[in-house]
Amino acid sequence: MIVLGIESSCDETGIALYHSEKGLLAHTLHSQVEIHAEYGGVVPELASRDHIRYLTPLLEQALAQAGLDKSAIDGVAYTAGPGLIGALMSGAAFGRSLAWALDVPAVEVHHMEGHLLAPMLEDNAPAFPFVALLVSGGHTLLAYVKGVGQYQLLGQSLDDAAGEAFDKTAKLLGLGYPGGPALAALAEKGRPGVYRFPRPMIDRPGLDFSFSGLKTFALNTMQSAAEDGALAEQVKADISLAFEEAVVDTLKIKCRRAIEQQHCKTLVIAGGVGANKRLRAELAKMIQQAGGELYYPRIEFCTDNGAMIAQAGCMRLMAGETQPLEIDARARWSMQDLPAI
Ligand code: KG4
Ligand code: ZN
Repeated sequence: MIVLGIESSCDETGIALYHSEKGLLAHTLHSQVEIHAEYGGVVPELASRDHIRYLTPLLEQALAQAGLDKSAIDGVAYTAGPGLIGALMSGAAFGRSLAWALDVPAVEVHHMEGHLLAPMLEDNAPAFPFVALLVSGGHTLLAYVKGVGQYQLLGQSLDDAAGEAFDKTAKLLGLGYPGGPALAALAEKGRPGVYRFPRPMIDRPGLDFSFSGLKTFALNTMQSAAEDGALAEQVKADISLAFEEAVVDTLKIKCRRAIEQQHCKTLVIAGGVGANKRLRAELAKMIQQAGGELYYPRIEFCTDNGAMIAQAGCMRLMAGETQPLEIDARARWSMQDLPAI
């Protein structure tokens, strides 16, 4: 079965073609970074319009890459939530209508399920069960994954998601949008030990996170380090490093706790912050010491993409799941409401 996957929940338009036996056939992506950079964040209306602009050309590109005609598509999977409602509606309406026109089934995909199963796009794919750390711009959570749709929430962020904390702190440092990758790049020039940020909630039992205090800590540090109201580039780099170390260390401590609690040594990282090099390296060290195995998708499948939606959708379509003609996109949608397959 060949499944078309469509991702349009935020500021990236992603299209992919996925074969149930052969895996990924083609994928294309258009990032809206340049459009939103001017405003310092995602402007929802501009996002929706840009998705509409790019969906058809990206689909044509993906079909050409795979050497296929659209008549080869056996099913369509689209992100139905969570995300920006207008952006979701653009991809969902496009996908549902195309499925109707081609007379093939369509299935909605939960964006976070797409992320969570993304490591399975790789040759070295994890086997169930595993503990998953999902770290994106909108969500930070730890889940015990027994199978597709079997997600036991172990802990989550009580306030800002890890990516959001990266983005907000980057904004304070004047690094613009999107801030996470820029802050991580600057942190590479930081001097270790100049600043030390707190590791939130590690002295409390449980697996919940809280990252909003770190941005306040960053702001206070910046204010006391400023000279004549300005921050030297080196100081910005030192603060970036201290911030990144605090987030990574906190995530590592909670991941270690989660694998011990679940007696499960397979750890999966997914979501945009999963692209962070320090996080990957520190989790790899931790899991090696624990005698376990770490899995993550390639960098381009950590951040939003169509491939993860096509893969998750293919799994659900193969299990016989389909949606009626009604288009039901949701800004909020709990992953625990998903049916198991
Ligand atoms: O998963 P994603 O592409 O979109 C959501 O579903 O939210 O994640 C985007 C988030 C942003 O907050 C971005 O700043 C962060 O991932 N991110 C990073 C890095 N690359 C992306 N954060 C830290 N280090 C990175 N290298
Ligand atoms: Zn995402």
